[in-house]
Amino acid sequence: MNWQDKTAVVTGASSGIGAATARQLAGMGMRVFLVARRLERLLGLQAEITSAGGRAEVAAADLRSEVERARVFEQVGAADVLVNNAGFGWYGYYSEMTWKTAREMLETNVAATAHLTSLFLPGMRARNRGHIINVGSISGSIPSQGVALYGATKSFLDNFTTALARELRGTRVFASVVRAGPVRTEFGETALNKENGGHVPTEKIGVTSEAVAWEIWKLLLRPRRVIYVPRWLQIVPWAELSFGWIIDRIGPLLLKRQGRRIQKA
Ligand SMILES: NC(=O)c1ccc[n+]([C@@H]2O[C@H](COP(=O)([O-])OP(=O)(O)OC[C@H]3O[C@@H](n4cnc5c(N)ncnc54)[C@H](OP(=O)(O)O)[C@@H]3O)[C@@H](O)[C@H]2O)c1
Repeated sequence: MNWQDKTAVVTGASSGIGAATARQLAGMGMRVFLVARRLERLLGLQAEITSAGGRAEVAAADLRSEVERARVFEQVGAADVLVNNAGFGWYGYYSEMTWKTAREMLETNVAATAHLTSLFLPGMRARNRGHIINVGSISGSIPSQGVALYGATKSFLDNFTTALARELRGTRVFASVVRAGPVRTEFGETALNKENGGHVPTEKIGVTSEAVAWEIWKLLLRPRRVIYVPRWLQIVPWAELSFGWIIDRIGPLLLKRQGRRIQKA
């Protein structure tokens, strides 16, 4: 495979998994479009990639906006790889999550992924070449107290990507979901800074962004419908089916221990 003539779009490229993925794909020769809101960060990453001999272009956009998503598509044109990675979390009782934060989460984690896919996928199908990679989470497979809406957005990615992969079977266009466990990024800090947001219990543990980026690269070399990072997390869906009743009992106690208030009806 000649990666030099391939173009990748990576959303959420200003930090964490997205930045590491952009570096990884550019390092393998791909031309990479960097998408996020923080322009300074994107320009810094572009300079870093360029000085290492890679090719990167900046497409600053707020992906909550339909107009800005369409503008990214116009700027990029045809892409071979779309990594839908931009997203954020929030931790606490759903009853304490403001609708503003909830709506922003749906727009960023769900609508942006669905919309960018609908913009880029037809071209991939016409050329019979391409790969959509959606960065999901293990929380999409294990409904958990504290991340009710966030987990649901990631369940959406699981379902959406699996269905797409089935629609695309027999073509040279692939759809994959990355079910990541905890990753050490700015994710926890961002969640905490949202209104009423609590500490994400796993914020200080996890694999590195580079480890996830490496698995995404391997996914391009050998497409699969779903991968787990780290790999042992593949037991989680099975554990949810077998032991969900234990989580029903222990989960709420864990959330209470986080020091969150219980809002009485
Ligand atoms: N860290 C974890 O433990 C973990 C585990 C499983 C899955 N994930 C998933 O991995 C993905 C990346 O998260 P991360 O851990 O790398 O966190 P991160 O370091 O906070 O990165 C999040 C990225 O999303 C971008 N983003 C957020 N809102 C955006 C918007 N409205 N428009 C454009 N870009 C936006 C941010 O850029 P700007 O702020 O510059 O816009 C940033 O580049 C997320 O989808 C997350 O759900 C994370």
